[in-house]
Amino acid sequence: MLGLLPTEYWNYKISDISHGLTATLRKRKPNGILKIEGIGNCIPVRSARAAIVIAIKALGLPPGACVGTSLYSCPVVFKAIKAAGCTVRFIDVDPDTYCMSADDLLAKISQIDAVIAVHMFGHVCDMPRILEAAQGKPIIEDCAQSLGSSLNGRMAGTFGNVAVFSFRSGKYLSVGEGGALYSNNDKLFSELARLVSVLPVPSHMEDCVHVIKTYLRSILRSKPLWGLIGNRLWFMYNKSTNFLEKTPLVTSQMFKSDIAITTDRLATINYLIAKQRANADYYTESLILSSSTVCHEKPDVFYNRYLYPILLRSQSDRDTLAAYLLGMRIGTIQPYKDISEIASTYYEYKGDCPIAEQIAMRILVLPCYSTLKQSELHRIAYCTNKALQILSSTDENFKNTVPNEQF
Ligand SMILES: Cc1ncc(COP(=O)(O)O)c(C=O)c1O
Repeated sequence: MLGLLPTEYWNYKISDISHGLTATLRKRKPNGILKIEGIGNCIPVRSARAAIVIAIKALGLPPGACVGTSLYSCPVVFKAIKAAGCTVRFIDVDPDTYCMSADDLLAKISQIDAVIAVHMFGHVCDMPRILEAAQGKPIIEDCAQSLGSSLNGRMAGTFGNVAVFSFRSGKYLSVGEGGALYSNNDKLFSELARLVSVLPVPSHMEDCVHVIKTYLRSILRSKPLWGLIGNRLWFMYNKSTNFLEKTPLVTSQMFKSDIAITTDRLATINYLIAKQRANADYYTESLILSSSTVCHEKPDVFYNRYLYPILLRSQSDRDTLAAYLLGMRIGTIQPYKDISEIASTYYEYKGDCPIAEQIAMRILVLPCYSTLKQSELHRIAYCTNKALQILSSTDENFKNTVPNEQF
């Protein structure tokens, strides 16, 4: 489908290949750091999932400890908890933020040894209430999606004991892979740095192959290849590969190429956030959405608008809207739609997070990235409104108007 607009922006150009390859030739700095504005010095590590494993180890939790995290979350978080030798206790989410519910955390806190508070979509968990509900148990903040978001003037990542960040392609900086660890506790910071310093170092060859693979994946994820072939390849891969194989967890130091590109792009983060927030504001003003279909910022909250999720009335409305937009050459994502199935199959989820289950079936993410053109934004808003109007009129013939394109 020529011209299909991808939902995410995988930013990796020819110039990044030469930048990345040059960086692979430099000597690795021992105890290198990444500076994140508003946060401080962070320790680079292979990925956010590896960072979670390291964070759990640094907290010194006993083997088999129980870590509470929200069910509506990226499932690699569960994988990382298990890889660190712990078990997962699932917490429901707050419908105002799609992040962890402080009330459900409080109800389950006696069964939990530590908490991973995931800031979804660039939103921020209600951290003052999460801290209260955690009753002194250690908290890891998962800021993989919330780089630059804040609450009451405090950056996401500065409330808990440890914070993890992700720079993986598809995330805000989209550098290939890469993550970072932060703690404002000196002792914990030193322990995190020590644990990272003894991790295996990727070889020069692995780093070079990673640069080339990242470039190829990124062009397959971009116009025009995404519509011509990338989308189909991605669909086939997802269908033929199970969750455990799909998201490998490698605990190593960060690729030198990723460190170099992350360092450069961190300098542009405020500009990128301003652009994406403007796109999100445009949608919020233009889309015919009821107040419950979009997460508004409350006073003193600043969302980076990494993604723009809308909550539809039902799974069928969500799927119909997605199919309609696809027919209009607009890609969308139904993030974590199979999360309760993954959690039950691999992580002993017992079905006690009803709000998260509902949300997972009804959320659709629209493209919101910084490089969208004004004309593309208008087209997305126009087509979404058209579909929403027909859906709200409950016109039974609507489904017949949906292009019959299957991916
Ligand atoms: C909320 C969340 N946590 C953790 C991760 C893991 O990040 P990474 O891909 O850098 O391991 C991701 C994304 O994959 C994520 O979305």
